Amino acid sequence: MALGKILLVDDDRSLIELVKMRLEASDYEVVTALREEEAIQAAKSQLFDLSLVDLQLLYQDGISLMEELHLIIPEMPVIILTAYGSIESAVEAMKRGAYSYLTKPFDPEDLLLQIERAMENRRLTSEIQRLKGLLEERYGFANVVARSEKMKKLLEMISRIAKTDSTVYVHGESGTGKELIAKAIHLASERKDRPFVAINCAALPETLMESELFGHEKGAFTGALRSTKGLFMQAHQGSIFLDEIGDMPLSIQAKLLRVLQERQFYPVGSDKPAEVDVRVIVATRKNLEEQVKQGLFREDLFYRIHVIPIFLPPLRERKEDIPLLVEHFLKKFSQQMKKEVKDLTPGAMQRLMLYEWPGNVRELENTIEFGVAMTRQNVLSEDIILQEKTMAEPQDSVKPLKEAKDDFEKRYLIHLLQISEGNVSRAAKQAGRYRADFYDLLRKHHLKAEDFKKSA
Ligand SMILES: Nc1ncnc2c1ncn2[C@@H]1O[C@H](COP(=O)(O)OP(=O)(O)OP(=O)(O)O)[C@@H](O)[C@H]1O
Ligand SMILES: [Mg+2]
Repeated sequence: MALGKILLVDDDRSLIELVKMRLEASDYEVVTALREEEAIQAAKSQLFDLSLVDLQLLYQDGISLMEELHLIIPEMPVIILTAYGSIESAVEAMKRGAYSYLTKPFDPEDLLLQIERAMENRRLTSEIQRLKGLLEERYGFANVVARSEKMKKLLEMISRIAKTDSTVYVHGESGTGKELIAKAIHLASERKDRPFVAINCAALPETLMESELFGHEKGAFTGALRSTKGLFMQAHQGSIFLDEIGDMPLSIQAKLLRVLQERQFYPVGSDKPAEVDVRVIVATRKNLEEQVKQGLFREDLFYRIHVIPIFLPPLRERKEDIPLLVEHFLKKFSQQMKKEVKDLTPGAMQRLMLYEWPGNVRELENTIEFGVAMTRQNVLSEDIILQEKTMAEPQDSVKPLKEAKDDFEKRYLIHLLQISEGNVSRAAKQAGRYRADFYDLLRKHHLKAEDFKKSA
């Protein structure tokens, strides 16, 4: 196979023959053109890796021809051939996009060297572009780890729907990544440079939620000293994420329905409607259809928000994702805690694969965080994973009270030592114990405060 395909344009027939021979001897494929039109024709019908263009052509100058060729094959490097003494034009050619120039008569070695360099350069540029494209393509999903078919399909679907403005309905068990996916959708959309505003509907009392969401006028209620905009307005031109929408009170549901239908709403205490342009993403852990049946959720609202449903499967149904997630979290927490924990022992990994993960990805994340905090080695071993996971093991779900208490006590102590970074005085104080008592407790559970000191 040829090293590359070169388009050679010169009105000097003997020079063309000579250069063509040399290049072919060096394994390049060469197409020649004596006239501008021939060159353009060739560029339109074939792909070239590089072009050599004489500066002084019959009807046109080489620079204009180069520009025309670049309109057809934009990334093709062009080397300009100039007569002795026309350095200025050569420099002009470079400014207008030539890769380099050669002064006639040129040394054949020089010619080959320039061609090689130009091609190498071109390869690098396209590789960089390819990598950049990959990054951009994955940008919104950079933090979403997915190996299982289920998750890959889901990401594929998300990339397709992200650019639309349709309401997305994310559902799945606790800790499956609903919020992460909501953010990824926003980042993959054209709204990505606009705000992503999140609100947890389960965390706010009804009275506050209305003004949080829709804002209020000054004096609308006691304590409303000035008017505020509300989250819907803050999310204008961006996305609003309504988390735990199943917990939204019915009165607010009616208002939300109006926003979705008419893209407008009334701030509390105002009779002037406000208009807003937002993409709505909702999430729920609850089965909303059930809520609808029980009259806790408006049916009409349910159908309004249930436009693009996305179901996040529980982790136990996609265990193939575990190793990759573990790797992801090991990296994250090693960096955070300035440690170098790179791997798990095979036994520890097996443990993780066997476990059913009722708390899904969040529970896995916590397990790895705990392990990285605890370990003094560069690998997490089974016993560290076990310490965290024994209590939740399905096979020993009910323990005698004494054992359960001991388990709790140990985890409690570990937690204290973690947050006090091994400072016994501080940990004891928080536990409301004397230092001496606290040491006794540590001894009872075979814990050492030193293990929790941050290594430098
Ligand atoms: N596919 C994933 N790749 C990487 N991290 C993930 C993935 N899924 C979830 N996580 C992480 O797990 C944690 C829990 O995810 P998230 O908060 O999005 O879940 P959730 O479904 O909203 O949970 P909840 O129902 O408890 O609110 C987060 O720290 C998130 O970054
Ligand atoms: Mg959440």
